[in-house]
Amino acid sequence: MNVMSKKSEVQGRSAPAVRGYHHYAYKCKDPAATRAFYEDLLGLPLTHVVEEHDVKTTTGDVVSFAHFFFELSDGSMIAFFDLGDGRASQADPDTPAFVNHLALSVDGEDELQDMKQRLEGAGHDVVGPMDHDDFVRSIYFWDPNGIRMEFAYSIETPDQKARAAAEAHQMFERWRTKTSPAVQK
Ligand SMILES: [Fe+2]
Repeated sequence: MNVMSKKSEVQGRSAPAVRGYHHYAYKCKDPAATRAFYEDLLGLPLTHVVEEHDVKTTTGDVVSFAHFFFELSDGSMIAFFDLGDGRASQADPDTPAFVNHLALSVDGEDELQDMKQRLEGAGHDVVGPMDHDDFVRSIYFWDPNGIRMEFAYSIETPDQKARAAAEAHQMFERWRTKTSPAVQK
């Protein structure tokens, strides 16, 4: 892919709009704990369940599973596959635990603090709130399946957002070509 991709054009045609998440799916360790966490604690209703037996999946595996979906207020969903084995997905030992994570939006500071209190009241460790790069203010915690999660709201002004977007490709190329190779030595 060359720099044409910056304009989302391939062979002179713009790509269709990608509107947002439909769902993000992850392996479930404990369905009861997962439902309680997402539906009862975080307020995301269970709105769809798919049950399959000895079905050939898109990756060729033949398995039985339940696939269940918790709905966010914008209609997108966080979903889980329960294979009935009671085991969490294994994290990559070479990837620091903060790296792979799922960040979900809340409206602002009151909602962020409310979620922090809910989580801590249920015995979950919460880090934050903390600001990052005049960009986002966040809290961090673990879900029952080993997903590192974040609740966040945007704190950047329209000017900051425009400046960041204007600088993004230059910063990306500097990191890719100069800084990253130097850091890794
Ligand atoms: Fe994040």
